[in-house]
Amino acid sequence: MTTSQRTVIPDSIRTNGATPNPWWSNAVVYQIYPRSFQDTNGDGLGDLKGITSRLDYLADLGVDVLWLSPVYKSPQDDNGYDISDYQDIDPLFGTLDDMDELLAEAHKRGLKIVMDLVVNHTSDEHAWFEASKNKDDEHADWYWWRPARPGTTAGEPGAEPGAEPNQWGSYFGGSAWEYCPERGEYYLHQFSKKQPDLNWENPAVRRAVYDMMNWWLDRGVDGFRMDVITLISKRTDLSGKLPGEYGSELDDLPVGEEGYSNPNPFCADGPRQDEFLAEMRREVFEGREGFLTVGEAPGVTAQRNEYITDPANGELDMLFLFEHVDFDCEGVKWKPLPLDLPKLKSIMAGYQAAVKNAGWASLFTGNHDQPRVVSRWGDDSSEESRVRSAKALGLMLHMHRGTPYIYQGEELGMTDAHFTRLDQYRDLESLNAYRQRVEEAKVQSPESMLAGIAARGRDNSRTPMQWDGSVYAGFTAPDAAKEPWISVNPNHAAINAAGEFDDPDSVYAFYKQLIALRHDMPVVAAGDWHLLDADDAHVYAFTRTLGDEKLLVVVNMSGRTVDLPRETAELAAAGITESNVVISTYDAPHAVASLANRELDPWEAAVIQL
Ligand code: GLC
Ligand code: CA
Repeated sequence: MTTSQRTVIPDSIRTNGATPNPWWSNAVVYQIYPRSFQDTNGDGLGDLKGITSRLDYLADLGVDVLWLSPVYKSPQDDNGYDISDYQDIDPLFGTLDDMDELLAEAHKRGLKIVMDLVVNHTSDEHAWFEASKNKDDEHADWYWWRPARPGTTAGEPGAEPGAEPNQWGSYFGGSAWEYCPERGEYYLHQFSKKQPDLNWENPAVRRAVYDMMNWWLDRGVDGFRMDVITLISKRTDLSGKLPGEYGSELDDLPVGEEGYSNPNPFCADGPRQDEFLAEMRREVFEGREGFLTVGEAPGVTAQRNEYITDPANGELDMLFLFEHVDFDCEGVKWKPLPLDLPKLKSIMAGYQAAVKNAGWASLFTGNHDQPRVVSRWGDDSSEESRVRSAKALGLMLHMHRGTPYIYQGEELGMTDAHFTRLDQYRDLESLNAYRQRVEEAKVQSPESMLAGIAARGRDNSRTPMQWDGSVYAGFTAPDAAKEPWISVNPNHAAINAAGEFDDPDSVYAFYKQLIALRHDMPVVAAGDWHLLDADDAHVYAFTRTLGDEKLLVVVNMSGRTVDLPRETAELAAAGITESNVVISTYDAPHAVASLANRELDPWEAAVIQL
């Protein structure tokens, strides 16, 4: 049992400002991408029964909460982030009975289950959208419908350039507007054209969403990870016109290199964001206990994170911010840059400072939209550097104040896919971006774009979970009727759960220790955080303090031997012995020797009790 072994942080210690402390304040969350986790019926796609069959592994790892990426009924245009029925399970994944079984089996093991809630948009195959195509239907105003620009004839995009209501581009390429011949109008989609944005201005939309959320909570789920929840409130002028729309008082931004303008400044953290989230809290969560809410929050600043997650404001428990995974590129993600460590430190410091007094931070480096961190900021070029850098990066993240999220396979040090051809990718974002940037707008060469997708594409984290060394990595049976929906990484022969499970030096064993430390030491979960040597280009060091307890965290974020920077060296000067070493990526005697020599070996990281 995991949760039952975990003692909640005493109320004398401040976490997010609430009393009593929330049950999750020293919890660790594990994200499952069901499509790629475990297939049980040989169709090459992961399923709910597969998750249930792996619960003992997750309980052994010691995590407290499982977040499932969407398993609802969906045409799978965006792998389930396009939902056509919120109250059913997609047959790919199983049935509602399978979901009930998963909930019951997880709860038996002390594991909670948080579902993905995708309500900025639905699928275009959702009954609400179908009905909305009829201007006389009661759902007519459930989406963002707009007529073609006066003086133009509407039609297929491209047939009549400039007929779209404004210049906004979609995050998945092309215009954010799609023409619907049945209705004779365009609808807004910030993501793919199969993901029309719901109109949250309409109270009936909000009521339907809250009813659906209550239905799931009554069924036993323990909360929601809310997909792009900070894009639901759009900025309009007083007459309800969007920026750049004909007759709008608000101007659109200029178009970028692909020919479209960016909707984000007008859709992210919009004017009614707080109102909608507070209403949701009242209508769905008031009177309930033991739940967790985390909002995906593109475009939200650290300062606003403090407000939204301050329990006094009754909105969300925590948010995922993105500045720390968005900055290491040249403007677009397809032009990656190496890690600028001082910049990363300053962003993380901003996050930590913003929740000093109230509110809470989530901690993540990986998810189903990000490349694998060991390939991105670590070094997967040799087995030794892979294991060392995976541990160092895990220690770095888990020693911050907040709630850590582990993405499936991260605990094994799984790497990027290292695909070399476009036909190996499945993700619509990568495929559309290639078409748009290479073939249509011609703003990036094929070679450079393929390199960009290899470094930053979302499929890097979506290859099947590596359970063992068999032909399909144990994700699906060796004699399965169908191959996995996306290739298994060939390195599964060496990197897999079966090989790491009993190995005390594995990345898996190290993550187990990190999780246990958070459960056992309130200073890890809740202690004050203070950055050291902000400008050092290789060493990421900070302290954690709670009462008389003080931890020094040092991480060499590079593959070379480096000197300890000044502030860190001063703190490490007092006689440190092996008994001061709480956890380290090399062994404790090695950590003591390194600190005494005022240096760190490649990817050496340690937590020292001062
Ligand atoms: C979020 C999801 C991503 C999805 C998008 C649209 O960013 O994490 O996977 O494509 O929203 O729903
Ligand atoms: Ca299956």
